[in-house]
Amino acid sequence: MSSTPDVVSRDTSSIISPPLPDPLPAFDRPLKLGILASGNGSNMEAIAQAIRSGQLQAQIQVVIYNNPQAYVARRAQRWDIPSVLLNHRNFASREALDEQIIQTLQAYEVDWVIMAGWMRRVTEVLIGAFPQRVLNIHPSLLPSFPGIRAAEQALKAGAKVAGCTVHYVELEVDSGPIVMQAAVPVLPGDTADTLQARIQQQEHRIYPAAIALAAVPPP
Ligand code: GAR
Repeated sequence: MSSTPDVVSRDTSSIISPPLPDPLPAFDRPLKLGILASGNGSNMEAIAQAIRSGQLQAQIQVVIYNNPQAYVARRAQRWDIPSVLLNHRNFASREALDEQIIQTLQAYEVDWVIMAGWMRRVTEVLIGAFPQRVLNIHPSLLPSFPGIRAAEQALKAGAKVAGCTVHYVELEVDSGPIVMQAAVPVLPGDTADTLQARIQQQEHRIYPAAIALAAVPPP
C-alpha cells in the first residue's frame, strides 16, 4: 500500500530564478534603446542602472510615455534622459499613435523598442517598423495570466509559482517568443501587492539581461 505524506513541505526556497550570464554579451557599439512606459517606470530605471554600472552595453535614447501624470517622466529627468509625451487621447487611432511613436523613435535613432510597463496595445505598424526588435516585460510566467493585474490573477487561480517574462512583441497582447523568465514562489499570506513586489524584483534583474540576450544575432 502506498502512503501519501500528510504534510506538504512549505519550503519554497528551492524555487529560484536561474543565474544570469555574467558578464552579459558585448556588442560592437552600445545598443540604442527607446523605452515605452505608461506609469511608474521602475523597469526603465533598472535598465538605466544596469547601463550605468557597465552591466548592459546600451544607452537609452528616449523615453516615450502616454500618460501626462506618469512618474516615469520624473525618473527620466533625473537620469537626464529625453522624454516625450505622446498622449494616446490625442490620436484618432492606435495606428496614428504608433506612427508618431515610430517618428519619435527614428528621430532619436533608436534600434530597440523596450516596452516597460507600456499599457497600450501596439499595432502591426509599430511591430513592422522594428521587426524582431520590440520587447515587452509582463508580470507573469506567460502564457499564464496575460492582460492586466497578472499577480492578482495568479493568486486567484491558486498558482504556487508566479514570475515574469520578457518576450518579443507580437500582435496579440502579452504573446510572442520568450527571451527570459524568472519564477518566484507564491507565499502564504501573499496579497496581490506583496506578490507583485516580489515579481518586480525579478523584473529589474532580468530585463537588462534579456535585452542583451535578445540583441545577440542568431547563430
Ligand atoms: C511591470 O510589472 C510590468 O511587468 C507591467 O507593468 C509594470 C510596470 O512597472 N506590464 C504589464 O503588465 C504589461 N502587460 P514599472 O512602471 O514600475 O516598470
